[in-house]
Amino acid sequence: MRTKCFVPLFNSIRVKLNLRKMSIDIGGMRIKYKDKDDTFLEKHLVSNEPFGQFKAWFEDACARKEILEPNAMCLATATKDGFPSARFVLLKAYGKDGFKFFTNYESRKAKELAENPNVAATFYWEVLNRSIRIEGSVEKLPEEESIKYFHSRPVPSQIAACASYQSTPIESRDVLCERERALEAEYMIPNKEVPKPQYWGGYAIIPRSVEFWQGQRDRLHDRIKFRKPKSGEVPDGKLLHQGEDGWVFERLSP
Ligand SMILES: Cc1cc2nc3c(=O)[nH]c(=O)nc-3n(C[C@H](O)[C@H](O)[C@H](O)COP(=O)(O)O)c2cc1C
Repeated sequence: MRTKCFVPLFNSIRVKLNLRKMSIDIGGMRIKYKDKDDTFLEKHLVSNEPFGQFKAWFEDACARKEILEPNAMCLATATKDGFPSARFVLLKAYGKDGFKFFTNYESRKAKELAENPNVAATFYWEVLNRSIRIEGSVEKLPEEESIKYFHSRPVPSQIAACASYQSTPIESRDVLCERERALEAEYMIPNKEVPKPQYWGGYAIIPRSVEFWQGQRDRLHDRIKFRKPKSGEVPDGKLLHQGEDGWVFERLSP
């Protein structure tokens, strides 16, 4: 009876020891992507420049109710020494003037962007088996644009932006809630406009390349990448195709 009681304990110790020694094998985890008759070919491009193509795929993602935040993108920045970091942000506007997001200008990402404006951003829409990869550099948005967007947000979000010194250590959640309460008393109760903090605003990613990836069941995935041509590079119509607005595009091996 006594030995029986110890068996689960020994097992759990053994599992812990094993976990320390080896990784958990999840190599069998895979889903089926698109069938052979549902490929992404050059003839399916709705635009010969990346912004029009992005719009088509983004709208497809927005139309799928299973995708709750189609505008969530993983944004990678790097220090000037090349140490990368990545996090999700929400895309808030897009077009020929770039892919726009908003954040705290004193956050970790903003400090990295100040010393190295190069970024990469990735969307993944699982139910569509599609991903988009953007590489480029950022420019801060004009202050008026940040102010306009700030005031379009729900007031509690405006208050939260004022209450949070993003990416800095904080003693407890209570400290944050206390700041929030004080700001609510100052602005929400008398119904005053919350001023946008100086340290909050937007960036536009000006892309150098945008890749459209579609996952195929046979693992021969489709990848079509738009990029700016290198100096003197002329599209040959085979590997490299002429796009519009100074863009070229090519198919990449999966
Ligand atoms: C889906 C999702 C969307 C997010 N959107 C934003 C955003 O638009 N702006 C932002 O500053 N942080 C956003 N965050 C929080 C960031 O991922 C991150 O925690 C924060 O920006 C601090 O990052 P940093 O310390 O690297 O600067 C989002 C997080 C998630 C999971």
